[in-house]
Amino acid sequence: MAKDFSTMEDSNRSGNPTIHEVSDPARRLLLRGAGVLATAPLLAPLFGCATTGGAPRIGFKAIPPGVGDTLVVPEGYVATTLAAWGEPAGIAGNMPAWKDDGSNTAAEQAVQMGMHHDGVEFFPLAGSSTRGLLAMNHEYTDDGLLHVGGFNNMNAEKVLKSQNAHGLAVIEVQMTGGRWQMVRPSRYARRFTMSTPFEVRGPAAGHAMMKTGADPTGSRVLGTLNNCASAQTPWGTYLSGEENFMFYFGGGDNISAHHRRWGMRKDGFYQWEKFDARFDATKEANEPNRFGWVVEVDPMDPTSTPIKRTALGRAAHEGAWIAVTKDGRAVVYSGEDARFEYIYKFITRDRIAPGGAKANRELLDHGTLYVARFDADGRGRWLPMAQGQGPLTAANGFADQGEVVIKARQASDALGATKMDRPEWLTIDPNSGWVYCTLTNNSNRGQPNMPGVDAANPRANNSMGSIIRWKEDGDFDGLGFAWNHLVHAGDPANARAEAKGNINGDIYACPDGIAFGPMGVLWIQTDAHATQMYKGEFERIGNNQMLACDPATGQTRRFLTGPTNCEVTGVTFTPDGRTMFVNIQHPGETPSDRSDPASPGRFSRWPDFKPNGRPRSATVVVRKLDGGIIGT
Ligand code: FEO
Ligand code: CA
Ligand code: CA
Ligand code: CA
Repeated sequence: MAKDFSTMEDSNRSGNPTIHEVSDPARRLLLRGAGVLATAPLLAPLFGCATTGGAPRIGFKAIPPGVGDTLVVPEGYVATTLAAWGEPAGIAGNMPAWKDDGSNTAAEQAVQMGMHHDGVEFFPLAGSSTRGLLAMNHEYTDDGLLHVGGFNNMNAEKVLKSQNAHGLAVIEVQMTGGRWQMVRPSRYARRFTMSTPFEVRGPAAGHAMMKTGADPTGSRVLGTLNNCASAQTPWGTYLSGEENFMFYFGGGDNISAHHRRWGMRKDGFYQWEKFDARFDATKEANEPNRFGWVVEVDPMDPTSTPIKRTALGRAAHEGAWIAVTKDGRAVVYSGEDARFEYIYKFITRDRIAPGGAKANRELLDHGTLYVARFDADGRGRWLPMAQGQGPLTAANGFADQGEVVIKARQASDALGATKMDRPEWLTIDPNSGWVYCTLTNNSNRGQPNMPGVDAANPRANNSMGSIIRWKEDGDFDGLGFAWNHLVHAGDPANARAEAKGNINGDIYACPDGIAFGPMGVLWIQTDAHATQMYKGEFERIGNNQMLACDPATGQTRRFLTGPTNCEVTGVTFTPDGRTMFVNIQHPGETPSDRSDPASPGRFSRWPDFKPNGRPRSATVVVRKLDGGIIGT
């Protein structure tokens, strides 16, 4: 079975009603045109170079589908790499060199770049477009590449090395002589691993379900796990989602209904529970409750303690993204990438305060959490997840708000929220206020004994994925919305109707990363798995890729193709829009997600191309040869 963890995760057997109605393409087309063009800007433009005020300017020449173990960008563009897995992160006095045989120790890995780069955000230093910080996620490890001998003879040192290759990194980067490089050492450089203390805040802090032998206060957790997508807050911090945390825990033979609902299995995928007792849920049943949160980091303060924001709800969080209401409150959108799980929004009680991270330290701790219901008529509702309201009572297993957020899936089941096809990244159009969310795929949709198709998830055996979007009634705090699909991904040459899609332009499958960039361009990144690629319905689609889309017309153009079996994920820009940073994750991914340590370069040797060398995740820096704005 594929070890793309989100495709393993399928634990929603709640009896929510589903809407057995296929979407009406004609109506959605109408909504699309009317909605995007008729709305006023609700967010300040993210870039100094404002958009063209209408259609985004997409000026590059599209590239063909990606083939071979190479990264390709359009004519007139250049791509370089930095901060590959294993390079020293730049922590003063502790910069051990990368060894290409897996022999770096766990302690060395703790101060080197982690594995499997994912979401990434550029934080300019003093507003600069040539010097800043990159905060990024290291989602998971391929232990076949990480260690000498891979998973063979697993031991405590290997588990610690895997834990130290997870987490986050903050690094400093600078462009000198036209080339971006890491600044080493840097006073900002940090790694966050499974040993880093995180403060728990919000309604689950100190809750009985959060207390463990090592932390009787239930308010201090060591580490963050499986961090996937990223975002920046308007107050200058970094948000990261803890995604498939449950695959790190072993549940034994008697798994509780609560942990079963969250996908716990007998054995963890990484064997951590055999060497680190806190991942053995038969011994420490509450430890899994301490993961699945959105974490917030202040990259500008290297002494700051990162925070788990429990008011935003627990989920297999892809990430979290912020819009701002006209009166200055934050609205946090998030989803959970698992089959048949949900999309959330949180509206803060208070307004964003001037004064940056310190002034907004408690902002995300107070407010109301909602889960989305997409109705068949193109309308939707945000259902409040407030203890004591509707079905969320003590009698139903929700004794307090802490229990509601820890059991957010069960609460969403009870509220009748819509079960989605794996919500991945979200992004908000700074011009129109429409919110976009990738639904990457769901092969179980409409299969026997599985939820059927509904208006928002209209394709059975959805191998290709879709992008859904909605516009709130009034402001971002609206509790009703209009929705439609930007696109259903696929290849019109496919025989199966559900795999053809309706892409206007270059074809792709399994949209995952998505973000608005300079000039109002919607950037789309893809993550088809090694088990799917290059054959059958995916034959003509090629390597995973990044495309530029005009959200008003849906017109889509291929911009970047990655090396063999990689995922393209995470994108961020300098304020001037002239440098793009993109993460390439798991080049050479194997169908099992575990490389053979005897042939680490079997599928890819990107980016070093050393004989029998290891493929490495890395950050790619894209510039235009003429120094222009990316995408134009
Ligand atoms: Fe980590 Fe849902 O991708
Ligand atoms: Ca993803
Ligand atoms: Ca992937
Ligand atoms: Ca994915």
